[in-house]
Amino acid sequence: MVMNGRLLAAAAIAAGLAVHAPASAQVQFATSETRAVTYSSDVAAIIQQNCIVCHRPGGIGPMDLVTYEDARRYATRIRAQVSNGLMPPYAYDRNIGIQDLQGDWRLSDEEINTIVAWVDQGAALGDASAVPPPPSLPAAHEFTLQAELGPPDIIIRSTPIDVPSEGNDMWHRPIVPTGLTSDRCIKASQVKPATARAATVVHHAIPTFTRTQSDGSVQTLERATEYAMGKYGEISPDGVCRIAPADSDVRWDIHLYPGGVGANAPGTVIEDNVVELGLWLHPEGYEYEYKQDLGYYGFEEGPTEMIIPPGGTVMTQGLSSWDHPVRIDSWQPHGHLRLRAASLEIFYPETGRTETISMVSNWSAIWHQSHIYGADSAPLVPAGAVMIQKNWYDNSAANPNNPDPDQWVDYGARTADEMGHGWLAVTHLDEEGYQRLLAERQARQRPAADQ
Ligand code: HEC
Repeated sequence: MVMNGRLLAAAAIAAGLAVHAPASAQVQFATSETRAVTYSSDVAAIIQQNCIVCHRPGGIGPMDLVTYEDARRYATRIRAQVSNGLMPPYAYDRNIGIQDLQGDWRLSDEEINTIVAWVDQGAALGDASAVPPPPSLPAAHEFTLQAELGPPDIIIRSTPIDVPSEGNDMWHRPIVPTGLTSDRCIKASQVKPATARAATVVHHAIPTFTRTQSDGSVQTLERATEYAMGKYGEISPDGVCRIAPADSDVRWDIHLYPGGVGANAPGTVIEDNVVELGLWLHPEGYEYEYKQDLGYYGFEEGPTEMIIPPGGTVMTQGLSSWDHPVRIDSWQPHGHLRLRAASLEIFYPETGRTETISMVSNWSAIWHQSHIYGADSAPLVPAGAVMIQKNWYDNSAANPNNPDPDQWVDYGARTADEMGHGWLAVTHLDEEGYQRLLAERQARQRPAADQ
């Protein structure tokens, strides 16, 4: 049976927010594949294109999946992870909300069925000489966007800090010059820990552009981007400008978690940990109409509203709206170890309709993804419409990420506390631009709809 995201979401809501069966009880694919499936002709290409970027020597995955022998050894685990939608790590519900996403790592149903059939049929090699040659990949722990965009134009590094093997959460907030001498528009940005081992201890890193005034005070300008564990880069749509200001510094806000989180956590001292911001810039004089920024849209009502009892569940929601039309270019929910599901909806007061934009019903703090909407799918939101973000928390033992179901969990910044907010890249429009973008989009979609 194929249980799709909509069913899961509906079932989750019907179950009174007891959303989270163990990960193994999530989406299950049964295969109807009857032909002989082999590694060489069917599976190698899927693994090469979707897995080895992380599962190779020096990559962030806990084991290599480069050769047939690797894949065969881990065949049962691969089947489980892939059929449950846990690998590749991109939790985003199928068949609900916008499915046209940039940088979507999910496998297609057909690819999942192929892997399941291969394992069920005995994980055969097939014709060894027909195994495709592995693709050339950027070196592990280069910026992943480098494969697409080449090396970043500038890299801004935090100052190094040692992270102990265990202990309480740490915050590191150095201020580092950007070296920019004129305002520039950012094409893409990516933050990453400088080494693989650091990836599990850097929970969160937020670089903000600031400028030191002549009187010595520090002025906050724009948020550069945001990183949380597992997140890759952000790409801005064409024709908009996300500003990297002249004569600016980057003020880092880096949240470190000694010992690390997740199956691949090192539990060792990480010496001289550095976090890097790579910026790909449009040329000087880039022409644009509207500005995009990355915003933090919070919805905690205050600490007392966020108490999750031992073994309990909580749902919370936040409302935001704009006094001008906007386009939502990307969405990334944020929470910690008890957050298990998140959704984004828009309520249109003129029609009374609420539209589900996105839903993630198997969320994990190890993997933060910025879901970047396709150019013709990014929601165009009229002034006054209401954005509704919902988060579902599970403090029971059924939550596979829960370190301790006997704790009361409160709102707070530590990884063991909870938070709830979203990061959204938003292009700020005016009424004329909104109407024009809407008309252009409808014109592009019309021929397809007429077929
Ligand atoms: C972006 C990097 C990345 C990609 C892409 C990726 N993995 Fe992983 N994988 C990881 C990391 C890190 C872990 C350990 C942490 C976790 O489970 O989330 C992991 C865990 C796993 C595990 C569980 C290992 C265990 O302990 O049992 C399996 C199996 C697996 N991956 C298979 C795959 C397959 C198959 C693909 C491609 C279809 C894939 N992965 C793609 C990074 C990745």
